[in-house]
Amino acid sequence: MTKPFSQACENNKAPILEVLKDAFSEVSQVLEVGSGTGQHAVYMAEHLPHLRWQPSDQAIYLPGVKLWCNEYAGGNLLQPVELDVTQAQWPVVQADAVFTANTLHITSWAMVEAFFKGAGALLPEAGKLCIYGPFNYRGAYTSESNQAFDHFLRERDPLSGIRDFEAIEQLAKSAGFVLEKDHSMPANNRLLEWRKSG
Ligand SMILES: C[S@@+](CC[C@H](N)C(=O)[O-])C[C@H]1O[C@@H](n2cnc3c(N)ncnc32)[C@H](O)[C@@H]1O
Repeated sequence: MTKPFSQACENNKAPILEVLKDAFSEVSQVLEVGSGTGQHAVYMAEHLPHLRWQPSDQAIYLPGVKLWCNEYAGGNLLQPVELDVTQAQWPVVQADAVFTANTLHITSWAMVEAFFKGAGALLPEAGKLCIYGPFNYRGAYTSESNQAFDHFLRERDPLSGIRDFEAIEQLAKSAGFVLEKDHSMPANNRLLEWRKSG
């Protein structure tokens, strides 16, 4: 098997790191949901040595993530665990932060709801939640490229699509999160940062 590779990850990993350096400055262990190739996991573990990074994904992605993890010499990157956010019981993972990139627009709204339910149940008070990806605001696209991307997604899978920030914020609130920051990122993406309040 060849190591999976995403050019988008290469492009966005440094800007994401810049935000996480501050957002996760007091965090000790991060659960990453939907690690994909594993590139973010290795890069973030290498550049955030004060914390442990726990990658996860659906079973089919784990061999690829492992190939990336096995090349990393540091001790703060854990082996990936299987996690489909819709499963009733998430794996027993200690975490005071959850991170996910480019996942909420890929699948159904039911998955988005399951993600917030699971993250809310997992994280302790003051735990951090950071989500990277494209979002719409007040029902409008933030760029023509996001509009084209959304059409592509919905043609491929009608249940998927770029999410409305307001709907996401409502779910986050219901799961006990308070929005701390909404970072503008390159290529019309956002990085949303919440803290668990109870
Ligand atoms: C576009 S990829 C993004 C991967 C990586 N985070 C990145 O930024 O390149 C979408 C990811 O969402 C994951 N995903 C989709 N449905 C999921 C589910 N129900 N539970 C957990 N992960 C899921 C996929 O397995 C895939 O890794």
